[in-house]
Amino acid sequence: MQPVLLKPDIYWVGAVDYNLRNFHHYSRSPQGSSYNAYLVRDEKTVLFDTVSAHACDILVEHISALVEPQKIDYIVCNHLEQDHSGALPRIVELCRPEKIFVSSLGQKSISGIFQTEGWPIEVVKDGDRLNIGRRNITFLETRMLHWPDSMVSYLEEDKVLISNDIFGQNVATSRRFVDEYDRSLLLRAMKDYYYNIVLPYSPMTLKALDRIASLGLTFDVIAPDHGLIFRTPEDIDFVLQSYREFAEQKPKLQAVIAYDTMWSATERMARAVADGLSDEGVPCVLIDMQNNHCSAVMNALADSGALILGSSTRNNMPMVNMVALMAHIKGLKPQNLVGASFGAYGWSGEAPKMMAEELRAMKVDVVGEPLKVAFAPKAGDLALARALGVEVGRALKEKIAKFQ
Ligand code: FEO
Repeated sequence: MQPVLLKPDIYWVGAVDYNLRNFHHYSRSPQGSSYNAYLVRDEKTVLFDTVSAHACDILVEHISALVEPQKIDYIVCNHLEQDHSGALPRIVELCRPEKIFVSSLGQKSISGIFQTEGWPIEVVKDGDRLNIGRRNITFLETRMLHWPDSMVSYLEEDKVLISNDIFGQNVATSRRFVDEYDRSLLLRAMKDYYYNIVLPYSPMTLKALDRIASLGLTFDVIAPDHGLIFRTPEDIDFVLQSYREFAEQKPKLQAVIAYDTMWSATERMARAVADGLSDEGVPCVLIDMQNNHCSAVMNALADSGALILGSSTRNNMPMVNMVALMAHIKGLKPQNLVGASFGAYGWSGEAPKMMAEELRAMKVDVVGEPLKVAFAPKAGDLALARALGVEVGRALKEKIAKFQ
């Protein structure tokens, strides 16, 4: 690829990672991803963020197509996680910048991750402005969106927001702008990213959106550090509104049934629960944890209001995939869910009760009693599973009504 012009003298110079499927070793990126870095040419030449270490050559190639890397005066590190800073040591060595700007908590990150002796690091505070010639940059801290060090950079005259991880999506494509890409794939990627990475920080998301409104900031371009760039008024409204909806987490008329099964008994129960949900007019997604990553469950929860967990009992515990799933979900702190649990067992059957306790610990409104069935479900057991689905469906509809 070549650098891509966003506005006069403002360029995308990042790298597209078409092969990335394992995102940060805790989520998945089925559409790949990109590490977006941006270069602004003014009286001072400024590089905003870098890329993952393995993509450094691509970044250097893109920068070099515009300016000699040694001409870069400033580097702005909006956030120090290694997908944006991995190339920093090589870039600092190559460019010898006059200054490297970080947030106050970015100072801690940068010196914690790298050997920074001799680096010209300068801390900028929330609201600080930097003149680079014809342009002024305002730095706004966005702590815990999604690291303590996170900030965004606003190019005032151009109305360009370089938003780092916020508004990002894991998408790998030669297209650079949202208006060039399939809308449903984009929305799926936005939800996947938000629900697996940003979700626990939803209160901060709402605060940041309110702050943008109160400051009267307007945008011609929103340029995140992953995926596609928003540049039309419609797309900018779309991403701001979508983020508000993601953060509000209002329950939606869909249930997720995530399960693991040893000899298909728990799976048969899952299908009966799904039938009960259908009886109530509630669509559902069944996710077998033997064949799916935890992030697929979070992705489905973005369109749901119920989380139902099913597991066989093995050695007095839920199946290990379900234990991992519950840890993944619990850390992401989803809100406003109803739920239930079920599972088959051979001789003890602790899993459904343990999963119900975990759901309660996640502040999920648990419906009914944990349903456990010895060995294989018979007709009466499947009727009970179906009734559980009905009960969850009714509870979900009542919950949704409270949000209207
Ligand atoms: Fe928090 Fe894209 O790194």
